[in-house]
Amino acid sequence: MFNKFLERYGSHLEEEMQRTVSRYDNLPAAFATMIRYPMGWDDADGTPYPHPTGKRIRPVLLLLCAEAAGGHWKHALPAAAAVELLHNFSLVHDDIQDNSDTRHNRPTVWKVWGQPLAINAGDAMFALSYDALSRLQGTLDPATVLSIWNIYNETIVELTRGQYLDMQFETMMDITTDDYLSMIAGKTAALLAAACQMGALIGSGDAEKAAHFHTFGLNLGLAFQVRDDILGIWGQPDQTGKSAATDIISRKKSLPVLFGLSKSDDLRKIYEHPHTDNMEVQQAVGILDEVGAADFTRGLETSYYEHAQQAFAATGASGDAVDMLNQLVDALFGRSH
Ligand code: IPE
Ligand code: IPE
Ligand code: MG
Ligand code: MG
Repeated sequence: MFNKFLERYGSHLEEEMQRTVSRYDNLPAAFATMIRYPMGWDDADGTPYPHPTGKRIRPVLLLLCAEAAGGHWKHALPAAAAVELLHNFSLVHDDIQDNSDTRHNRPTVWKVWGQPLAINAGDAMFALSYDALSRLQGTLDPATVLSIWNIYNETIVELTRGQYLDMQFETMMDITTDDYLSMIAGKTAALLAAACQMGALIGSGDAEKAAHFHTFGLNLGLAFQVRDDILGIWGQPDQTGKSAATDIISRKKSLPVLFGLSKSDDLRKIYEHPHTDNMEVQQAVGILDEVGAADFTRGLETSYYEHAQQAFAATGASGDAVDMLNQLVDALFGRSH
């Protein structure tokens, strides 16, 4: 579904990222595979994988925003490569932190090679993302490169703040919806916001314009995560590729669940049990429906979506990249996986 957006940039994005990794030609082949595998370039045995695994939303947003702000996307390629390498680094470490076995229908890096090697591969991807970013120096003036560098650093600290809160919330019962929104602003929305802002800054050199793009990306990221939470409970298996109510089965304290916990003692009792059987899953969904958790969550999604639209209108962006951005946003919100 997202191929159409990637096609706009041909194979340039994948090439830019692959070049970044290949520059380090002294890496043992087996170690390079641990980096190439989560990017969807290699299989675990080092043979080529047929297609990239992730949707590449962040770099596509960055390149479209560079164009929409009046620049040429080619100048933004190093930053686009950086954000996607960083995103995948964060997923490699996140799967260890979350004890997740599967991503993109494949065993996670730590499941294949064990945690110590997966942490190390993630560390390399983190450094490679800065390596990609540093190539902005070829086309941009030093002051803009420095601003982007600072945005990038701040974003990564913000992402780790979100991850910290997410992990801390796992063992807490009384998390407010505001706490939760602050957490997803860090773990999910910060990098989407930075991608839009950096693209616009590269495209225009105008910090004020880029700030509107940041607001656009932040609200888009919040709406994206809130929508994911809705699908995690009410999404149909053919729509999500996961079983129904998957977030309740895994006891995830997503936004509708937090709303429900604040309204229903019965739901709190269910969540206090270490395991949830099928009947309790049905009960929990019933309680969420009764207390209006779906309406509350959908209302927030719509509100973030509208804020994103308003911020986008304030950017004054024009050209056919704007049409593509609108289509990308639509695809994200009708998204099925
Ligand atoms: C998944 O992001 C992790 C979150 C921050 C919600 P994406 O859905 O963009 O991940 P991929 O790269 O397409 O798998
Ligand atoms: C992943 O968040 C966010 C980052 C890696 C920063 P989640 O843990 O909620 O997402 P999934 O379900 O593993 O993709
Ligand atoms: Mg996870
Ligand atoms: Mg996580």
